[in-house]
Amino acid sequence: MGFLPSYRARVDLKLTAPHIETAIPGPKSKAIVAKEEQHIAPGLQGFAQSSGIAVERAAGSVIEDVDGNRFVDLIGGIGVNSLGHCHPAYREALHAQIDKATVGSFTSQVRADLISEVAEVAPKGVDRLQLYSSGAEAVESAFRLAKNATGKFEVAGFWGGFHGKTMGTLAVNGAGNQRSYGPTPPGHVLPYANCYRCPLKLTYPTCDIACADLARDQLSHQTTGSLAAVIVEPMQGTAGNVIPPPEFLQRVQAMAKEHGAIFIADEMITGFGRTGRWFASERSGVIPDLVTIGKGFGAGFPISGVLGKPEVVQAKPWANPSGSSSSYGGNPLAAAAALATIRTLKGENIFANVKRVGASMLAELRSWPDKLRWVGDVRGEGLFLGIELVQDRKSKEPLAKKICQEIFREGLSRGLLAMSYTHAIRLQPALTIEEDLALQGLALLRESIAAVALRHGAG
Ligand SMILES: Cc1ncc(COP(=O)(O)O)c(C=O)c1O
Repeated sequence: MGFLPSYRARVDLKLTAPHIETAIPGPKSKAIVAKEEQHIAPGLQGFAQSSGIAVERAAGSVIEDVDGNRFVDLIGGIGVNSLGHCHPAYREALHAQIDKATVGSFTSQVRADLISEVAEVAPKGVDRLQLYSSGAEAVESAFRLAKNATGKFEVAGFWGGFHGKTMGTLAVNGAGNQRSYGPTPPGHVLPYANCYRCPLKLTYPTCDIACADLARDQLSHQTTGSLAAVIVEPMQGTAGNVIPPPEFLQRVQAMAKEHGAIFIADEMITGFGRTGRWFASERSGVIPDLVTIGKGFGAGFPISGVLGKPEVVQAKPWANPSGSSSSYGGNPLAAAAALATIRTLKGENIFANVKRVGASMLAELRSWPDKLRWVGDVRGEGLFLGIELVQDRKSKEPLAKKICQEIFREGLSRGLLAMSYTHAIRLQPALTIEEDLALQGLALLRESIAAVALRHGAG
């Protein structure tokens, strides 16, 4: 990868990190959090809440809190922050649009440009786009469309899968957050090719992707014969940035076809360059019927969408006037944000950075099992990287949540924001992160794990 040019993010505000001024959280953060806590409802994103920090400003992959502490950001808004905080091109595009038009669903130049530029990079022939504002909303819409297109009603997802928190998406979530919300709409949750935690305790490639056979068998035993859609993350985010063998997706597509169901790739996290390609499903050579997009697509502005094959998106009533629309879908500001994102991804050759920095982070991670007893597995594709912390490498028993939370706090005190509060650590920094900062972030994480391990007699 050494031949690729070194990427220097275009930032007009340069913040350096780590830089620690106070205990974390500092007094100003504490005061703001206390004010908010008087009336905010519980249930905020866990890492934001447990950090206790209030953000003052951010640039590139550095976040500064109101007490002047600066953190290396390896969370990246869980895949939302594709361009880095406050990218100049993004800010310019939004500033320009805010002075022109901000509300409404009329066609605009910016939306027309966005639709055609997304179509250019979409999987071949999956080039009709409807826009929304959240990921779950896009997934729900894809399910409605699949029902209209097939006249059927069941949906299938996978163990470890996550597609949102609305009722339809809960039916196919295998991440555990469906509990306490039953009954959900008719859905099936099938084994996924998570090789580190293989459902059949086999080893790739000699397994011949037996988990896909198991999924197929389970589905055929459970379905009422009315399967409308199979939805799959080409690589699973919430499960711990899990990367299945490429053949798995091909097998899932074949299974959907067998049932006459619509094959949906949920590329909410993996789309728009996260893995070094426009879409992670390209790695398997499959063309989905529908692709759901969001998160990094808008680089911070709430915009999501359903991409579909022309023949699928004609299904009614989804395709009727107002049948698939929403109040904010295609909002002019959202369109400007997503258009600026696509153009910057292309114009600044950011995928080269994703591949180069991702490879260098993965090479560093690969040395960790020799250095850190708790590290059971490391994996990565572009800037989509995962680490499994285990109590014991043989049993693969996950490291206790309390210890992981200690690691998270240890990282904070050293100037690091990483999703290390759970045993399946997910790293997805901004696609523009510079190599030296990314490696510095990893060094902070390694030191944090080592320090906590030492305290627990596992050094
Ligand atoms: C793969 C995937 N699909 C859908 C969603 C839901 O997106 P949102 O939180 O925008 O509703 C998420 C969120 O994490 C996700 O990871």
